[in-house]
Amino acid sequence: MEPTSRLAICPGSFDPLTLGHVDIIGRAARQFDRVVVAVLHNTGKAPLFTVPERLEFIRATFEDNPRVEADAFSGLLVDYARRRGAAAIVRGIRAVSDFEYEFQMALMNRRLAPEVETVFLTPAEEYSYVSSRLIKEITALSGDVSGLVPDPVARRLAEKFPAAPEAATEG
Ligand code: PNS
Repeated sequence: MEPTSRLAICPGSFDPLTLGHVDIIGRAARQFDRVVVAVLHNTGKAPLFTVPERLEFIRATFEDNPRVEADAFSGLLVDYARRRGAAAIVRGIRAVSDFEYEFQMALMNRRLAPEVETVFLTPAEEYSYVSSRLIKEITALSGDVSGLVPDPVARRLAEKFPAAPEAATEG
């Protein structure tokens, strides 16, 4: 990387990547020279998708955007950000309800690494209600999430949760 180029980390679970994430990552890539979408190896949660699957979704979605890279990390986010020489951590804020948690995390990360700034971006309104948790819940119950997740994610969700035959859905 050029010494003057500015790198941002977009950290998260991305289980799975949604079009809300894609919107925020795209906005970050217009503000920074490079964006690393950093998938947390979270041993505490039982994810739907493995880390390699989640990385593959990100790579497939941003294959035409040379500014965007996918990587996995474990441990403290600020340690990873320092290793990567990041200027900023980018987080999306969808609604006021996100703010308290994000604000607390940003201040704690600043205490741990004052040189790494947290930048909040807001997604397009049409994605302001989209979350990975709801995507998983709706798909598991045979609901339609088209237009809310990238195509590679939609295909894998359809494989994981084949729609139940109509005759078998009601008593
Ligand atoms: O998509 P998520 O689950 O909201 O992302 C949360 C994430 C990965 C940004 C957060 O859990 C995190 O940074 N974890 C790494 C461990 C860490 O640094 N914890 C201290 C945060 S102040």
